[in-house]
Amino acid sequence: MTRVATAVPSFEKPSWSKAYRDFTHEHGFQTLRVEGRLPEALRGTLVRVGPVAFGVGEQRYGHWFDGDGGALAVRFDGGGAQGAARPIDTPSIRAEREAGKVLYSNYGTSAPSLWRRLFGGAKNAANTSAMTWNGRVFALVESAIPTELSLEDLHTLGETDLGGTVGPAFSAHPHRVASRRASYNFGVNYGRVVLLDLYELPDTGLARRMGSLPLPGPVMIHDFIATDRHLVFFVSPMRIRIFRVLLGLGSISDNFEWRPELGTEVLVVPIDEPTKAMRFQAEPFHTWHFGNAFEQDGRLVVDYVRYPDFGSNKWLAELLNGWASTDAQGRLHRATLNLKAGTLRSEQVSDRRCEFPGPTPLLAGARHRYLYLAAHSGAEAWRGPHDTVVKVDMETGRETVVTLGREHYTAEPMFIPRPGGSAEDDGWLLAQTYDAPSDRTYVAVLDAKTPEAGPVARVWMDHFFPFTFHGTWVPAT
Ligand SMILES: [Fe+2]
Repeated sequence: MTRVATAVPSFEKPSWSKAYRDFTHEHGFQTLRVEGRLPEALRGTLVRVGPVAFGVGEQRYGHWFDGDGGALAVRFDGGGAQGAARPIDTPSIRAEREAGKVLYSNYGTSAPSLWRRLFGGAKNAANTSAMTWNGRVFALVESAIPTELSLEDLHTLGETDLGGTVGPAFSAHPHRVASRRASYNFGVNYGRVVLLDLYELPDTGLARRMGSLPLPGPVMIHDFIATDRHLVFFVSPMRIRIFRVLLGLGSISDNFEWRPELGTEVLVVPIDEPTKAMRFQAEPFHTWHFGNAFEQDGRLVVDYVRYPDFGSNKWLAELLNGWASTDAQGRLHRATLNLKAGTLRSEQVSDRRCEFPGPTPLLAGARHRYLYLAAHSGAEAWRGPHDTVVKVDMETGRETVVTLGREHYTAEPMFIPRPGGSAEDDGWLLAQTYDAPSDRTYVAVLDAKTPEAGPVARVWMDHFFPFTFHGTWVPAT
């Protein structure tokens, strides 16, 4: 379903809502103003990806997730920083721009005709995350194949199936397992039987299809997590009413059906023997994002943000309109999976509304102590975007909460390890932040050992950039 621009309700919108307008200030790398002092050892490029155009022609998209992708890059050179920002140019984004109207169905938007809904293909909005692999950088969206970006000036190089291996879908959440020197990912392949396609991307070498497993119907899976031996999926009890979508009776987002009686399916895939996947049912809950997982005493420990239902989808859609009436209710949890007994036991770690948990990448798939995440600061703050960065000590439960400024809103914080560092939290947190009063975006650099001290530096764009979902770090060579 598409909406017409004039249908947006008229009321005084909060200051952060300006970050949900179309981004048009495209440029290659330019010197950025640095406030404070950048760490000399922080060298590399941060690449963030998110939706940056929220409609085409006179039509506005139906959901934040439909936005055409764009990339923001900040290159740190040991004292200064350069930044680039560009929309991403996929064939389907370009076709709609040239037509001046919606042509493809997307998450919250329907294609204009039955023929297009049946045979028109999927849009590659390239709007969710960035992946570094084999010295290359890709923008990802879970409904399509990767789109390669140039690190020279951030222009789009083109879509790729990674040598004929991946497709039709490649999720926006690949996970690297440090001990295996490989990344893993999946794609949900919607056909008569809905399949979970599994992929392995060795640090060096060719991408490989590991196999495909049947899923229990038209489900949506956004993320998974990997230990050094297993891939873990939580399949929420949500089903897409596909026929209604094809008939044009609402978009995918309009046609999710929450069916708690089905429970959440826990799917655990042994990396070395994917055909021996284990499945069992747990109580109904939803997960967008995982933090980390590891194996301990024959059990799997999984950190994730848990929701009681799928109300968060409405919260996400409402942010695009500048108001939120639905409390998404995401809380950090730690689950313990007993594979022999087929049980999941989950405990809430914090009562703070949060999202985007992540550990140091050096311990991805192994036991970690710290997680970093974005959160809401106060009782009513959930009505807007996240406004705090939090460091959680999973051993003591201690939370270090950092607010970057009045009406400053943050995207997912990313932990960058200090080269040669030894302590788990020896490194920096990079957080794309929107300063709503000045309508400009900066990247905050925090010392991850002492985030409560506030940013050691802020790297300022001279313009705003819409909120991004996820990103990647490309270390300087
Ligand atoms: Fe995500």
